[in-house]
Amino acid sequence: MSTIKVEDAGFVRFRAPDLGEMRRFLEDFGLRVVEATDRRLVMRGAGSAPVAHVTELGEPGFAGVAFRAASVADLERLAAAEGATVDDLDLPGGGKVVRLSDPDGHNVEIVAGQAKAPPLELPSPQPWNLAEERQRLRATKRVPAGPAHVVRLGHMVLNVSDFRASERWYKDRFGFITSDEIQVSPELALGAFMRCDRGETLTDHHTLFLAQSPKGPGFNHAAFEVVDLDDLMLGHQRLKDAGRHSEWGVGRHILGSQVFDYWRDPWGHTLEHWTDGDVFTAADGSSVATLQDLLGVQWGPSAPPTMA
Ligand SMILES: [Fe+2]
Repeated sequence: MSTIKVEDAGFVRFRAPDLGEMRRFLEDFGLRVVEATDRRLVMRGAGSAPVAHVTELGEPGFAGVAFRAASVADLERLAAAEGATVDDLDLPGGGKVVRLSDPDGHNVEIVAGQAKAPPLELPSPQPWNLAEERQRLRATKRVPAGPAHVVRLGHMVLNVSDFRASERWYKDRFGFITSDEIQVSPELALGAFMRCDRGETLTDHHTLFLAQSPKGPGFNHAAFEVVDLDDLMLGHQRLKDAGRHSEWGVGRHILGSQVFDYWRDPWGHTLEHWTDGDVFTAADGSSVATLQDLLGVQWGPSAPPTMA
């Protein structure tokens, strides 16, 4: 039994020397400003999470990941087991936080009790006229140009120095379930897509991916869900027009099935737009997959060397 079971991704933290430049990039990416001061930039998606991306003024770099727990009581149980404290979370929406450090020294925050943000307006879903099933009858489809509409942070990927050690650490504390383990051979696993254990409640195929990377430990990417395929393509065009750095996409992954589009922020951190990913319950089990499955696509360009 794990100490607690986390429910979802919370937010990601970075540092950057120019918060205005980070803001311009994130607005092109489709996040919305919640707080912008001389020292800190806080962005959200259109969903109910009050915070999705936090940047503190400083030397550029990755500063940590956060997951959402079900309750403050869970935070108290976690803190007691870890010899940690439950503190106030100093971010819009408030709430409580337990701060831990994973085996590679990554900052991991577990949060609960945040006030829900009022959801922001999203483009209404428009049906598709499939070749053999017309769903949009006697009506046009118009998709106004602009950034994609990020709804929520969906998953984070961390490079780790010892996959098995990190897997144990995250599973023992937070209850993650393996969806797909990446094996080079039966004796050698290099990573796993892991989902939250929410019992019979559907959850994303992965909220966390741990990858044993030759690059050594560090941030790999964070992935934000957008409304649908039109929204993702709209966002692609906006980022391209703004001269942003496209890393990989548009394509459809094999593991997790989502349509993906990877971009770099002005300091080189990879952020993903995704839509149409798989959802599972706790009962849906675990699979084994290969590196080819991990880096292959169902359609779209092959993975650039920077993603391997
Ligand atoms: Fe991803």
